[in-house]
Amino acid sequence: MASVFHKLIVLRLLVLCCFLFSCVPQWSDAHPLKICKFDQIYQLGDSISDTGNLIREVPIGAATAFARLPYGETFFKNATGRCSNGLLMIDYIAMDAGLPFLPPYKNLDAADFEHGVNFAVAGSTALPSQVLAAQHIFSPVTNSSLDVQLDWMFTHLNSICLNSRDCVEKLQNALFMVGEIGGNDYNYAIFQGKTMEELRSMVPDVVATIVDAARKVIEVGGKRVVIPGNFPIGCLPIYKTAFQTNISAAYDKNQCLNHLNEFAKYHNEELQKAIHTLKQEKPNAVVIYADYYNAYQFLLRVATFHGFEREKACCGTGGKYNFNMMRMCGGAGVEVCSHPERYMSWDGVHLTQQGYKIMAAWLVNKIFPHLLCHF
Ligand SMILES: *[C@@H]1O[C@H](CO)[C@@H](O)[C@H](O)[C@H]1NC(C)=O
Ligand SMILES: *[C@@H]1O[C@H](CO)[C@@H](O)[C@H](O)[C@H]1NC(C)=O
Ligand SMILES: *[C@@H]1O[C@H](CO)[C@@H](O)[C@H](O)[C@H]1NC(C)=O
Repeated sequence: MASVFHKLIVLRLLVLCCFLFSCVPQWSDAHPLKICKFDQIYQLGDSISDTGNLIREVPIGAATAFARLPYGETFFKNATGRCSNGLLMIDYIAMDAGLPFLPPYKNLDAADFEHGVNFAVAGSTALPSQVLAAQHIFSPVTNSSLDVQLDWMFTHLNSICLNSRDCVEKLQNALFMVGEIGGNDYNYAIFQGKTMEELRSMVPDVVATIVDAARKVIEVGGKRVVIPGNFPIGCLPIYKTAFQTNISAAYDKNQCLNHLNEFAKYHNEELQKAIHTLKQEKPNAVVIYADYYNAYQFLLRVATFHGFEREKACCGTGGKYNFNMMRMCGGAGVEVCSHPERYMSWDGVHLTQQGYKIMAAWLVNKIFPHLLCHF
């Protein structure tokens, strides 16, 4: 067992080196995550992990730019509803686990849900849309918030399980991703004029809603639950454009906006505290925090090493960050860079496939030992 473990460490180092030195990704065939022998992966979340739900919502979702090229141009050569030029982190996680890409729940006719389902909807929030609306925060693209996605999940599980004991059995080797979710609650609040103070006051409710969803997942039989935190949002072109300033002290060494990153850290710290409490409450489940914040910091270092574009969006137009809220990626006359693999940001909000690939590799390496998979 010790030698197997040793081999795994060596393997993981090699995988990491591959990203630093751009070797061919042949190591993914022997990925340690395969040891977990996951039967299914279930995903709840927003545009960071939606593989095609929003674009199947009519009329708004189907009319979004995510349903058209250049979204999807790199990997699928067509739009799939993924908010990137290609694959997302959840696609890399599925590949590492030796499973097919997660089919979107809304693709009811064509999908094979044997190895999992993706319930994530781009633009969705952790708090129910009505709760946000009561605070005068409007959800512009979808009302399929986390509670709605959970209902879909329970409907699906009811359809595959004979009874609750059967569900516990069937989900024994399933991986549940609860998030990233909650980022849009804050995005909408801030771009609809709320102050940072008001944003901070939302954190307890958002965090409680995310952790409560994880609790419900465990109560239907989920054994392994991963709960991601938020990105360092002060690094994203959309925020850097909106809050651009000449005050150099407003930026950190990576040219990210301090006050927004501090806010993301605050959310992440509160989330980790709530996860700690959940773990004590559910000692038989494996609950893991996925550190998107530091995965992104790792990506910044890799991008620096390789000389990737760290500031500008690949698909966009105007300004210091190639981003304009009124003329976003997919709009008429909005240009796409010719080498998205040399950019971190795809459209100013979401990352490129290359960015997600590097973040996912870092995350899987961090998470794997905590999954306590049997060798
Ligand atoms: C591209 O995707 C759209 C839906 O997003 C679909 O209608 C179309 O058939 C796809 N085209 C190809 C060539 O796969
Ligand atoms: C969300 O629900 C509200 C109230 O039912 C409705 O007015 C609004 O159009 C919905 N929004 C979307 C994006 O579907
Ligand atoms: C920054 O300074 C330049 C030149 O002094 C000025 O033109 C520009 O409007 C300033 N930008 C902001 C965001 O304050």
